[in-house]
Amino acid sequence: MQNPKRYLITAALPYANGLKHVGHLAGAYIPADIYARYLRAQERDVVFVCGSDEHGTAIPIQARKEGTTAQAIIDKYHEAMQQDFADLAIQFDIYHRTSAPLHHETASAFFTQLEKAGELETKETEQFYDPEAQSFLADRYIKGICPACQSDRAYGDQCESCGRSLSPEELLRPVSTLSGATPIKKKTTHWYLPLGKHEDFLRKWILETHETDWRPAVVGQCKGWIDGGLQSRAVTRDLDWGVQVPLPQANGKVLYVWFDAPIGYISATKQWAKEHGKDWDPYWKDAETKLVHFIGKDNIVFHCIIFPVMLKLGGYILPDNVPSNEFLNLEGDKMSTSRNWKLDMRDYIDDFVKKENGGGQVVDMLRYYLTQIAPETKDSEFTWKGFQDAVNSELVAVLGNFVNRTWVLMHKLCKGKVPPFHPARADEYDRALTEQIRSTTETVTQHLERYQFREALFAVIDLARHGNQYMQRKEPWIVAKRLEQEPEAQQAIDNCLHLCLQLSANLAILGNPFLPNTTKTLCHLMKVVDRMLEWKNAGRIDLLKVGYSLREPQLLFRKIEDTEIETQLEKLKANLMSTETPAPAEQPAAKPTIQFDDFAKVELKVGTIVAAEKVEKADKLLKLSVDLGSETRTIVSGIAMHYAPQDILGKQVTVVTNLAPRKMRGIESNGMILMAEDRSGKLHFVHPDSSVEPGSGIS
Ligand code: 2FM
Ligand code: ZN
Repeated sequence: MQNPKRYLITAALPYANGLKHVGHLAGAYIPADIYARYLRAQERDVVFVCGSDEHGTAIPIQARKEGTTAQAIIDKYHEAMQQDFADLAIQFDIYHRTSAPLHHETASAFFTQLEKAGELETKETEQFYDPEAQSFLADRYIKGICPACQSDRAYGDQCESCGRSLSPEELLRPVSTLSGATPIKKKTTHWYLPLGKHEDFLRKWILETHETDWRPAVVGQCKGWIDGGLQSRAVTRDLDWGVQVPLPQANGKVLYVWFDAPIGYISATKQWAKEHGKDWDPYWKDAETKLVHFIGKDNIVFHCIIFPVMLKLGGYILPDNVPSNEFLNLEGDKMSTSRNWKLDMRDYIDDFVKKENGGGQVVDMLRYYLTQIAPETKDSEFTWKGFQDAVNSELVAVLGNFVNRTWVLMHKLCKGKVPPFHPARADEYDRALTEQIRSTTETVTQHLERYQFREALFAVIDLARHGNQYMQRKEPWIVAKRLEQEPEAQQAIDNCLHLCLQLSANLAILGNPFLPNTTKTLCHLMKVVDRMLEWKNAGRIDLLKVGYSLREPQLLFRKIEDTEIETQLEKLKANLMSTETPAPAEQPAAKPTIQFDDFAKVELKVGTIVAAEKVEKADKLLKLSVDLGSETRTIVSGIAMHYAPQDILGKQVTVVTNLAPRKMRGIESNGMILMAEDRSGKLHFVHPDSSVEPGSGIS
């Protein structure tokens, strides 16, 4: 959209269930912040909204984990995330929250509008239900054995061990995490958004209108969804946490979190408008508003397919672009909260920002590196070594060095004042640098307009690199040695430092969206006010007035030391080790050889399990009744984590029948069942390959 009247920028609302890591920062918040800062510098009418996503099952699950209430969780993490964003200079115009009454009203009204217009359909389906807790179970609330890797860390949506996506139906031996009961299927009615009805619209809008201006990965994913057939999506859930479905017959149901969360962008805009005496309506309803959603790739379907259908039905504008990023890995591996393989924004803030006076410099270092490696077209990788290199060899050696040399020389050779430029003495280097300033402005602007933040930043740093090369060619410190014999040589020095200072002013403007703290320091050094930072000033070489005295030099960046990197790497490893599940037990050492007589002392028989029940207050034990032909024995066996009682009735097993009786949890166990243990630690019965009489001997 050319020259829109106003911009509405959104960054994905993060779940208020935990601290967010630098992958989130690089994926949505830094690019959105750069774009919003750029637009503000252009004096556009822009609102940048975000807030906490406080609904969905993620919240009560975290509450259970932390032994507290859902409300306490959202309060804690809303506060913490807001603070972290502020500490890293992410400048939202509003950071709202979806638990706010204004959001509940807005989301309810949205649902009602669609429901009244007949745009939703209802369907009765069977869903998993916990008969003990008397509650329907979200996928995440069902745990079981993974059909792929046999791990018992598998949930109804995903296996935490091998990462495979699962549906609850696929889990082996599913149990409810609420009560431990085996879930049953129960009928329930829900409201659905029939996406299939909107296929033509989506196809045209995405695959024709935005085929070339959206990122290929976004268009590709959308095409996949559309070509795969758009299913109706349930927009309500049986859950006691969220926005109540505003219909009397929907008692106990809430809006699906992915229905209400994007509406959070609208309620955040409303709240912002309220606080600023503005009208929110044109931001969402006027066709001359450019709406841009910044998200990570796991959110594409919601922002490009589902929410747009909702927006169209509700009479709102559609996003002009959805610059979604791929994922950021960390030191060669996927970031993972469960494995603690991650770098939280808070970790960086504690270890770097809080330890330095003001911390602005190190904030910009992180912003710089995360933009330089932004996963714009493919997954990319954060490494501490890469961070150190980016800071030391670019921010320190290129940008910081250029500005420092300029300031030191200007104080030494030009009395600390902006020297005049003498056109008569201008040479090809001066002209080339002037042209470079102009063309860089154009390049940076074009890249920013196209959401190519890495390239835009590269062009900025490249301009500083040109500044260093220019200075190196002009060598004002060498020219200064001729001054006594050749006083007019001062003009060459003046020209060089005049241009270097104008270049510094341009770096302040062009670098501002990326490195706002560095720009602040530059403004301080130049003694200029924010007005100079308006984007329209970029490319000019008369920004600093001749004769204006400037402040003493000050280093823009410090180096990152090897020890800092080592500390961080050690910390990462230690975090991982503290959470890693123990490796499967090593094969026990071979036992010494025994004589046949030793072996013959053990009596082994085939038994059939005829009854099984859990042993109270013992997670691992089952009390079994085993038919041994001539008698039925009670045997307590440590297999409860591997088998559910009802699944093993009738199974034939190998029993050591002459083991001395042993009391376990008050129950006398008369014998032992032999089990095979696989590499993952899972136990399997050892039994004959076809059924035999109970009590048959084994030898
Ligand atoms: O993936 C997430 O973290 C979601 N909470 C993003 C929501 S974005 C928007 F729709 F609110
Ligand atoms: Zn698995």
